[in-house]
Amino acid sequence: MAQVAECVAPAGPGVDGYLGVAQRVEADLTIVGPEVPLVAGVVDHFEAAGKRIFGPRANAAQLEGSKAYSKEFMARHGIPTARFQVFDDLAAAQGALSRFEYPVVLKADGLAAGKGVVIAKNKAEAEAALEGLFSGALVGDAGARVLIEDFWRGEEVSFIAICDHDTALALPPTQDHKNIFENDQGPNTGGMGAYCDDRILTPEQKDHILEHVILKTLAGMAAEGAPFRGFLYAGMMMTADGPKVLEYNVRLGDPETQALLYRITGGFADTIFAATDGTLPSARLTIPDGATACVVMAAHGYPGTPRSGDTIHGLGEAMEATVFHAGTRASGAEIQTAGGRVLGVTATGTELSGALDRAYAAVDKIHFAGKQFRRDIGQKGLKRYTKNRVGT
Ligand code: GLY
Repeated sequence: MAQVAECVAPAGPGVDGYLGVAQRVEADLTIVGPEVPLVAGVVDHFEAAGKRIFGPRANAAQLEGSKAYSKEFMARHGIPTARFQVFDDLAAAQGALSRFEYPVVLKADGLAAGKGVVIAKNKAEAEAALEGLFSGALVGDAGARVLIEDFWRGEEVSFIAICDHDTALALPPTQDHKNIFENDQGPNTGGMGAYCDDRILTPEQKDHILEHVILKTLAGMAAEGAPFRGFLYAGMMMTADGPKVLEYNVRLGDPETQALLYRITGGFADTIFAATDGTLPSARLTIPDGATACVVMAAHGYPGTPRSGDTIHGLGEAMEATVFHAGTRASGAEIQTAGGRVLGVTATGTELSGALDRAYAAVDKIHFAGKQFRRDIGQKGLKRYTKNRVGT
């Protein structure tokens, strides 16, 4: 970012620190990226100060801030989602396991940077995960309340829309890769790679999710006195029984953002501005045909305890892609790892295969000790298109 923008630290602690920056640089519009300041009320704080900002207020950000809130909201409004129960103590949760089949989904209620979901294959795994969640060992305070949910098979799709109360502009679908290892094995992460391609969903599926999930969510939030403005991200599972909502996020998603914004070549800032002044229906984004792919390179130890301080080599040679820095820091002339997900290597193509080839050509030139990445980003997309072409 420092190559194209001025990066500044917050002007003080908490959400007021962000307002201080927006006031100092006389920002016309502030777009909030991550969930933590949204849940902490950064939008409410900017609005009280008369500064234009795009994102949900704290009461609407609860859709991501509390999984129990969002599941109970979906149940109230008939939004398709898996059967669930909410627990505040370990013994009750362990006692309820007999009412679910394996694999079973265990979720921390609070914010956990994508690491609060465990899919347990049997009772022993489920009990260990419940202990880890309730004791704080897995995700700290976020696991003080836990949800047990039915597991649904299918493909995951990230469906994100730019929303302004009762109006939504759907962005092209993306697909994330949550597990740390190839073939969707190993623990969940925040996301090890994503691609964006219109063909992830048929036009009918897209219309269905827009109507039965996004617009229904907006109507429900408005009816409950928490109207939603911001990016609404519905994490969907495309089951044999129809699309179901796995979870909401109230932001663009990482690494979906890299893949998604790389496809939008015009109109983004104007569209977000329009969503803050009631003119979203007349806004236009320029999204050329084609596909994009983002391959995440993660640090040794991620998603457990990532190691920092490994020197990253080859960034200057990886010209096939744009390398977005996430967990890095400068140390003299070197760039070093400084977080779990270190880099998002992102490329475009007229076809998904070309975007993936370019992203992996760049990945293969970047080296750091203990680097982890998945070789199979986008493979489900490639298989889907091959299958459709031969008409099977
Ligand atoms: N990639 C999923 C998320 O951002 O939560």
